Amino acid sequence: MLKLKTPTTARAVYPSLEDKHVLITGGGAGIGEALVEAFARQGARVLFVDIVDDPSRDLVERLSAETAHAPLYRHCDLRDIDAVRRTIAEFEQQSGGIDILVNNAANDDRHSIEDITPEYWDERIAVNLRHLFFAAQAVLPAMRRAGGGAIINLGSISWHLALADLVLYQTAKAGIEGLTRALARDLGPDNIRVNTIVPGNVQTPRQMRWYTPEGEDEIVSAQCLKARIQPDDVAALALFLASDDARMCTGHEYFVDAGWR
Ligand SMILES: NC(=O)c1ccc[n+]([C@@H]2O[C@H](COP(=O)([O-])OP(=O)(O)OC[C@H]3O[C@@H](n4cnc5c(N)ncnc54)[C@H](O)[C@@H]3O)[C@@H](O)[C@H]2O)c1
Repeated sequence: MLKLKTPTTARAVYPSLEDKHVLITGGGAGIGEALVEAFARQGARVLFVDIVDDPSRDLVERLSAETAHAPLYRHCDLRDIDAVRRTIAEFEQQSGGIDILVNNAANDDRHSIEDITPEYWDERIAVNLRHLFFAAQAVLPAMRRAGGGAIINLGSISWHLALADLVLYQTAKAGIEGLTRALARDLGPDNIRVNTIVPGNVQTPRQMRWYTPEGEDEIVSAQCLKARIQPDDVAALALFLASDDARMCTGHEYFVDAGWR
C-alpha cells in the first residue's frame, strides 16, 4: 500500500471553539475518542457519553493532564431515550447549555435479511438513528437561548456504496442525511447549523475486526487517495464544521472518504 507524505502534526486552531460546551456521543472509542481529544485540545469543554466505561475513564484521565478543561464522561445507553434526556439535562445544569452536539455513536453489526425480526429492526434503528433526533431535540432550547449552535451527525459511506450485509445500518445512515436536511431547514432561523459528516472506511480498532489486510488493500485501491483514513481525519472536519469559520455551512453532507468509489 502506498503511503501519503506524513502531514505535520500541527493542527488548525479555531478560536471560536475555546470554552464551548461540546457534547459527543460514543466518545469512548474509535472516531468518538478522536473527536473528544480534538475538541478538548481546542480548549473546548467536552462532555461525552458511552457505554464502555473503562476506556472512557482512561481517556478522561489521559486528557486531563494535557488539556485546559478535563472532559466529563457519563455512562448513557443511547437506546434509552429517557436516559438520553436525563443525561443532557444533567450536563446542561452544570454547563448552562450545549453549544455543539456531535451525534457520533452507532453500531455497524452485520446481519442477513433473513435474520431480521421486528425487534431487531427496532433495536438497530434505536442504536443508529433514533437517539440522534432526541439528543438534538434536548439541546435545542439552550441553543436557541444562546442565539445559535451546531449539530454534526455522523453518517456513513456504506449506503452510498451499497455494501453487503448492512441493510439496517444503511437504512439508518440514509435516514441521518434526511434528518440533517430537515433539521437544518427548521433550525436555520435560530442560527443552528446541522450537517452530516460521511466517513469512508476509517482505521479504528473496531474496523480492524471486520477487515483482513487484503480487505484493507481492496478499500485503498478503490480510493483515489492511497492511504488509510484515520479517526483524526474525521475529527479535523468536525472541528471546522463546529467552528464559526463554517458559519454559512448547513444542511449538507461532507465526505471524508479519500475518494472511495
Ligand atoms: N470507522 C468507520 O470506518 C466508519 C465508517 C463510516 C461511518 N462511521 C460512523 O462514524 C461513527 C463512529 O464510528 P466508529 O468507527 O468510531 O465506531 P466504534 O464502534 O469504534 O465506536 C462507536 C462508539 O459508540 C459507542 N456506542 C455504541 N452503542 C452505544 C449505545 N447504545 N449507547 C452509547 N454509546 C454507544 C461504542 O461503545 C463506541 O465507543 C459512527 O456513527 C459510524 O457509523 C464509521
